[in-house]
Amino acid sequence: MILLNTILPWLLTLCIVLLSLNYPLRRYCQNNRASAGDVFYGFYKFLRKSHRLLGILVIILTFLHCRFSSAVSGTNMGKICFLILLLMFIIHLFRNRMKKKWIIIHRALAVLLWIAIIVHIVQEIRL
Ligand code: HEM
Ligand code: HEM
Repeated sequence: MILLNTILPWLLTLCIVLLSLNYPLRRYCQNNRASAGDVFYGFYKFLRKSHRLLGILVIILTFLHCRFSSAVSGTNMGKICFLILLLMFIIHLFRNRMKKKWIIIHRALAVLLWIAIIVHIVQEIRL
């Protein structure tokens, strides 16, 4: 049970940290004109390549965390996190039609997701 109720939500949070790192890392690499030999550049390349797969894994892990941790009278902030994640995935499917607008929405949803996650964690740790 410790595995499901403690390790799983923290692992999930770590995956979302990795998903969010691609933006600051890209900015760092651009500003410092990082090249192929740079550790940060290698890490950025890796994160960029695995971003979509990690995003899908996060949706599956969130579903599992919801199934195992949720009580009948939950606070529901977790569900809002889940809805934002699903929205990010659905909007990503229409990215070609939405052109440049989609990445702006995607980044904005990432910020919204973090606010919801922080509120969720603070609420659940206090309870
Ligand atoms: C739900 C599944 C997700 C999918 C399918 C997805 C897909 C994508 C794609 C295709 C890009 C385009 C740029 C690239 O290839 O690097 C991107 C960028 C980005 N994603 Fe996601 N993503 C997902 C979830 C998330 C989550 C949960 C976060 C963070 C909370 C996130 C944060 C970002 C950020 C910050 C960028 C912009 C990177 C930049 O401007 O360089 N994504 N995402
Ligand atoms: C370390 C971080 C986290 C902790 C300690 C944590 C803890 C919990 C707990 C105790 C519950 C049960 C709440 C109840 O039913 O009363 C819960 C539910 C839930 N959590 Fe988390 N969680 C964490 C991170 C996350 C993240 C990152 C997400 C999604 C992005 C998430 C999504 C959910 C969902 C969907 C539920 C079920 C619906 C709900 O009760 O709102 N959690 N979480």
